[in-house]
Amino acid sequence: MTVAVRSFAKINLGLYIGASRADGFHSLRTVYQTIALHDIIRVTVGRGSGIEIVCTNKDPRVPLDSSNTCWRIAELVMSALCGSGRVSIEIEKKLPVQGGLGAASSNAVATMFALERALKKSLTGAERLRIAAKVGSDLPLFVVGGTVLGVGRGEEVYPLPDLPSLATVVVTPNIGVSTPAAFADWDALARTNARPSTSTKQLTASDGSDRLFEVGCVLSAWLNGYPNTGASAKGGSRAGNLLSDLVRTGIENDFEKVVFPKYPELRDIKGELERAGSRYASLSGSGSTLYGLFRSPAEAAKAASRLRKRGLKAVATRTLTRRQVSRLQSFKVSM
Ligand code: C5P
Repeated sequence: MTVAVRSFAKINLGLYIGASRADGFHSLRTVYQTIALHDIIRVTVGRGSGIEIVCTNKDPRVPLDSSNTCWRIAELVMSALCGSGRVSIEIEKKLPVQGGLGAASSNAVATMFALERALKKSLTGAERLRIAAKVGSDLPLFVVGGTVLGVGRGEEVYPLPDLPSLATVVVTPNIGVSTPAAFADWDALARTNARPSTSTKQLTASDGSDRLFEVGCVLSAWLNGYPNTGASAKGGSRAGNLLSDLVRTGIENDFEKVVFPKYPELRDIKGELERAGSRYASLSGSGSTLYGLFRSPAEAAKAASRLRKRGLKAVATRTLTRRQVSRLQSFKVSM
């Protein structure tokens, strides 16, 4: 039996990096948001034992061995469910590798869902979250889906009231940004800024927790304001008000401070998204993907077409609510 699952991407609506912790990870505050772009994962459990992975795009950055997140999660799920048989995982790759869209993490969570279905056994919600967090910081968000608050090292996730589906343009430059390298660059920047001669004190490791507390207040105020901003007194759309809130509250992604100086073309693409009419544009995760949020699907489609004419890989899509994610994930089973 083969089970197919859509493996959706995410964007980050703001990402704040705090102090580096004793375990080498960094404290984070972020709002993750699922979008409709996706890979497809097919899982088959057959006779024999072991795990195998095939990937439709032959990108050498997608490992086919035990270092792949899909492999690691399959091992953990087989053991948790006392499953037996040979697990074959096919990754139909459409999302960019090392793109900041969480594709590898999403692929792993989709593998977990598909494997449960193929084995006809279920994990509890808490087991899913625990297994996902063991494999990587960016996995648990995909267990929840929709609009999700991420804290801790990003693995501690809380479902938020869903934002309405927002028209989005995603631009995927041909650059892979290594997340560990981007965190190391952040630490170097924090060290530089910690010297007395500079004034950007908010980047120092020692006051990282104060800073994250402040960010928590801003995010919480923004999210609390969400239900009130929904009904517009002046006739603006719900989505339009949300986008204004994002800009007004100054929600931003700290990775831009280290990734843009290294890859100036990414800063230019953010500018292109803004000039094409996006109400809010940002790097997603550590990049290199950039996205822009638009007031309507028509505006997003027009902007994507304008960016493509400028030679950029741009696609119009939308954000997904939690309910849309679970409906569209649709487990397709073939015997
Ligand atoms: O958890 P994950 O495997 O995705 O993390 C990859 C790497 O990114 C970690 O080994 C660490 O170097 C860095 N990281 C971090 N702080 C986080 C998440 C990841 O420093 N909150």
